[in-house]
Amino acid sequence: MFDYQPQANFLENKIILVTGASSGLGRAAALSYARHGASVILLGRNEARLNAVYDEIEAAGGAQPAVMVLDLLKADDNSYQEVAITVAEEFGHLDGLLHSAGTMSPVLPLEHVTLESWEQQLKVNLTASYALTRHCLPLLRRAASASVIFTSSTAGREIRAYWGPYAIAKHGIENLMQLFHDELHSTSNIRVNSLNPGPCATALRRVAFPSEDPLLRPRPEMLMAAYLYLMGDDSRNENGRQFSSQ
Ligand SMILES: NC(=O)c1ccc[n+]([C@@H]2O[C@H](COP(=O)([O-])OP(=O)(O)OC[C@H]3O[C@@H](n4cnc5c(N)ncnc54)[C@H](OP(=O)(O)O)[C@@H]3O)[C@@H](O)[C@H]2O)c1
Repeated sequence: MFDYQPQANFLENKIILVTGASSGLGRAAALSYARHGASVILLGRNEARLNAVYDEIEAAGGAQPAVMVLDLLKADDNSYQEVAITVAEEFGHLDGLLHSAGTMSPVLPLEHVTLESWEQQLKVNLTASYALTRHCLPLLRRAASASVIFTSSTAGREIRAYWGPYAIAKHGIENLMQLFHDELHSTSNIRVNSLNPGPCATALRRVAFPSEDPLLRPRPEMLMAAYLYLMGDDSRNENGRQFSSQ
């Protein structure tokens, strides 16, 4: 398990946008960042769930968060530009961007994957991370030191038959992280890394392993050390690297 013990308020004054903040690992990361002092922008498609996370942060005495409703399946270039414009107007800059939104269909041989399923998984799991990062670059450049975390998977680091478009998208995420790193490291204060949370008891995991007992897997809250490390200034010198939570 990744080991890191941060200072209590080490994310104070940082503005952090989290996609997939309505549930699972994104929700746990948003709550954890807020608990350590950050102002968190909660992005997702389900307004009620996002509002529940907002309420939880407020009730715990965290800095006032913001909610942005966006269905990544329906998003186009203008949608991402609007997110960036809203963040610029309300916060002025971004210190951190965690891409945690993800979707998965039941595993299938490629022979049986429909084009619709292929396109949906590539759009949410890969294209969205590219497009949102691209539009947020000017905001990230305004931070003294900014961190972008791309959520990967073991399926993105090894060849895994039957995981089709999900695995292709996660391999793409690793490549995307590397390209952003290579293009940004000498000209900006933006560091980009990928993080594989490993098996975790979430809704997405249940799609891949419907018969698995979720109690055998860690809950999202148990995997936050790496999420915290990569978002804070202690990881200032980590750039273009692959991390794992477990
Ligand atoms: N759990 C694991 O074992 C595991 C292992 C390796 C990697 N990962 C990765 O970890 C990340 C988080 O997944 P998770 O396990 O926490 O699963 P999760 O609980 O299902 O969370 C996925 C998040 O993505 C959001 N999302 C899905 N489709 C979306 C769309 N079209 N537009 C906007 N948001 C959308 C979901 O929103 P709703 O709340 O509306 O559903 C939810 O907030 C993913 O990138 C996943 O690939 C997970």
